Amino acid sequence: MQLKEKIDRLLDEARKIKLASEEEAEKYRIRLLGKKGEMNALFEAFKTVEPELKKEIGQSLNQLKNAVQESLLKAKEGLEQSARNAEADAFDLTRPVEDEIGHRHPLSLVREEIYRIFGKIGFDISDGPEIEDDWHLFTALNFSPEHPARDMQDTFFVEKNGGVDDVALRTHTSSVQIRVMNSHKLPIRTLCPGRVYRNEAVSARAHCFFHQVEGLYVDKGVSYADMREVLLYFAKEMFGNDTRIRLRPSYFPFTEPSAEMDIACSICGGKGCALCKGTGWVEILGCGMVDPNVLRNCNINPEEYSGFAFGMGVERIANLLYRVNDLRLFSENDKRFLAQF
Ligand code: PHE
Repeated sequence: MQLKEKIDRLLDEARKIKLASEEEAEKYRIRLLGKKGEMNALFEAFKTVEPELKKEIGQSLNQLKNAVQESLLKAKEGLEQSARNAEADAFDLTRPVEDEIGHRHPLSLVREEIYRIFGKIGFDISDGPEIEDDWHLFTALNFSPEHPARDMQDTFFVEKNGGVDDVALRTHTSSVQIRVMNSHKLPIRTLCPGRVYRNEAVSARAHCFFHQVEGLYVDKGVSYADMREVLLYFAKEMFGNDTRIRLRPSYFPFTEPSAEMDIACSICGGKGCALCKGTGWVEILGCGMVDPNVLRNCNINPEEYSGFAFGMGVERIANLLYRVNDLRLFSENDKRFLAQF
């Protein structure tokens, strides 16, 4: 019986066939399953099979069809696997590195220098979450609900109902200061480093995230003069011993009085240039005496304790030290940039 023999022959072939390339597999598929292929011809012939043989022939036809499909699937999997193997072979993990050892990111270098400088005068390091609630980000920091200062820092909200339960990507690490004041014994001398997020269009001068190091000092009898001395010490350590600073009055909801600190432009030495826009000064941080309301929100008695806080952008300090003129370079991971540090 010719039909049955043909089916068996093809079945045997399907079980043994080795399809070593995509082309071979495709040729086989067309020969067997194509419109004018063997399977269709067999199904056509099947129509004329005597009724008593229909069951048996039908079964072997289905068997054949399954076997063909299976061999194609196996070939496909095998080919994919060997492609993956070839790809893996292209990476020789045992190859020795060629004078290219890893090194620190410029922002890490600057951040660590900040740690070192403040570490010398007793500041430790505190950590907190990047996703924060409204209480730690704003309310405990003396931002009143309708206060326009909430818009000062264009916030990425995760959940917004308009209350202290709102959740957002932190816009500053002052939130960590609240956590520290809530949970640590006094006195407090700590740095709060970390990534912060603000809804700004990405350009050479602004980014939707950047890195801060904020600091907090709370003890009995801490004065504005203490703050000025500490920040002057920092500026001298960071930018050189003859660095001059000035404090300009400013506003932050959580400090009173508040100031912004400038250093005499490190490029022109104060004469005026493009970096300082002709003013001779460049701003490097915000600071101020912790507002009594903030202390009270953290159950610290402002009659007994006082403190100062400051916050700086690590990118800004890095820009001044290394003259990087495009913020985006810090997060692009371009080796040509990173290799320079
Ligand atoms: N949190 C402020 C900011 O992100 C910086 C700051 C910190 C200012 C502490 C004063 C005191 O802009």
